[in-house]
Amino acid sequence: MDVGVPRETVPYEKRVALVPDSVAKLVGTGLGVIAEAGAGSGAAVTDEMIREAGATVVDAAAGILGKADMILKVQPPSVEEAHAIKEGAILISFLQPARNRDVLEVLAARRVTALSMHRVPRITRAQSMDALSSQSSIAGYKAALVAASSLGKLMPMMMTAAGTIRPSSVFILGAGVAGLQAIATAKRLGAIVSAFDIRPAVKEQVESLGAKFIEVPLVQKDTETAGGYAKELAEESTRKIRELLHETLRGIDAVITTALVPDRPAPRLITEDMVKDMRPGSVIVDMAAEAGGNCDLTEVGNSVVRYGVTIIGPYDLATTVPAHASQMYSRNISSLLLSQVKDGRVQLNFDDEIITAMVVTHAGEIRS
Ligand code: NAI
Repeated sequence: MDVGVPRETVPYEKRVALVPDSVAKLVGTGLGVIAEAGAGSGAAVTDEMIREAGATVVDAAAGILGKADMILKVQPPSVEEAHAIKEGAILISFLQPARNRDVLEVLAARRVTALSMHRVPRITRAQSMDALSSQSSIAGYKAALVAASSLGKLMPMMMTAAGTIRPSSVFILGAGVAGLQAIATAKRLGAIVSAFDIRPAVKEQVESLGAKFIEVPLVQKDTETAGGYAKELAEESTRKIRELLHETLRGIDAVITTALVPDRPAPRLITEDMVKDMRPGSVIVDMAAEAGGNCDLTEVGNSVVRYGVTIIGPYDLATTVPAHASQMYSRNISSLLLSQVKDGRVQLNFDDEIITAMVVTHAGEIRS
């Protein structure tokens, strides 16, 4: 059974789905691995390294998508790529049914079994497969660095003969996996950090990192799903958050926003009026940009200056740390495959709750 690793085609994507360490593990179980030449080049993985780990490297003309029995990717395939995947093959990549409907239709028509890395359940047994967490940790770290390097100020306090510099203040909106890493990184850089999240369990986590938790008395108490995710808030609660944010942001140098609600557009929490009232020279890094943005003025993929405030709307920041992001993603995906290999073949166990949660197309149907 051949596992194919094509080159990613989304222009900004530098990650690769398998790094040599995982290639060797998969080959060790009897699976064949075919990688497209240059697939790892953005992540400092050469064809030679992939070959040495036991894979066959082929050029683009070999049409890996139509040949391999299983395709491993980072980004969802384009509609064109979906058409090229072999009928009945297995595909594993990030895939969001709400955003990638057209792709799912093609995959279903080709009877491809597609598993989404967005859907790995957050249960203990699946922790090593949890690509959302691995990539969010990296993205949160990088967001703090982007904020620091875009600010015309220093983050730490500095006492010099030329005077004492006050530390910058950083505010993190949404303290899930990415937000907590952003807090830890901003603290390490010496900033004064505060944060807010609607899930009550977060307060202790924020404080344990040495940051201040900003309390908002919400009207609504049920802010968290059984799975630990945030719920979409009623308008009254959102209004209360906006009021408090308006006051808080006046004194903040850098804001990193990460607030997301699964399968819903990102909550719009920072309005134009709030940006107007922020300090000139301050920075907003909106990590929710691709999901619609937490700030009204965010432009996805761009950095804009409005009312003297720089607003950055990056695509997935994990791809800007491609070597380690690929290493972790590859570990996540190979851990999933190793749990499903039998006699040198991947035999998906549809009674396994991890597989059932991840399947988005199977046997000609869309399951979402
Ligand atoms: P996420 O990426 O879906 O959302 C980011 C953060 O935004 C969340 O903390 C959420 O509460 C917050 N948020 C949503 N709406 C908001 C609003 N209106 N105002 C302020 N904040 C808002 O979440 P993520 O990072 O994927 O983690 C969600 C939960 O899953 C966390 O409790 C995390 O600890 C848990 N988790 C559990 C794992 C496991 O058990 N294996 C693994 C990873 C995460």
